Amino acid sequence: MAVRKVIKMGHPLLLARAKEVENYSTAELDNLIADMKDTMADLNGAGLAAPQIAESLRIVIFGVEANPRYPDVESVPETVLINPEITILNSEKESGWEGCLSVPHMRGLVPRYTSIKYHGYDQNGELIEREASGFHARVVQHEVDHLDGILYPQRIENMQNFGFEDELFQVPDEDKM
Ligand code: NI
Repeated sequence: MAVRKVIKMGHPLLLARAKEVENYSTAELDNLIADMKDTMADLNGAGLAAPQIAESLRIVIFGVEANPRYPDVESVPETVLINPEITILNSEKESGWEGCLSVPHMRGLVPRYTSIKYHGYDQNGELIEREASGFHARVVQHEVDHLDGILYPQRIENMQNFGFEDELFQVPDEDKM
């Protein structure tokens, strides 16, 4: 398929609530998801939401393979998640550094719930239902925020913890989403 252009913070579509997907198992949906996968792979991302390629639909993809170079980065299953819903399992939050393909070269320290349950559907309408914690839970919260028009800088509690990645520290580029 194709690597698509990723729109950046400032584009109005990143502030909009994306629309529910109505029909599964269509060539149109398969093509869009193939483009999202190609785009995420090209940019070494950990996740991508459809609005980031200017498609205002409730579709996210994510996944991180275990990488011996970065033993601290937890693996996350390769997932296509459509019309997702998150349930918070407890009120505990943990701060972690995030990056976003729509906010290039920057990092921010973002509090996220540590333990969640989520469900949604794959491109054929099959139910996906999981519990997640740690980085897996963080990625899902970051991506689902994109569907509600929220970018991670809006979640930063102390703006002193927001800056350019080459000034902040060396972090693996696998965790941009
Ligand atoms: Ni993002």
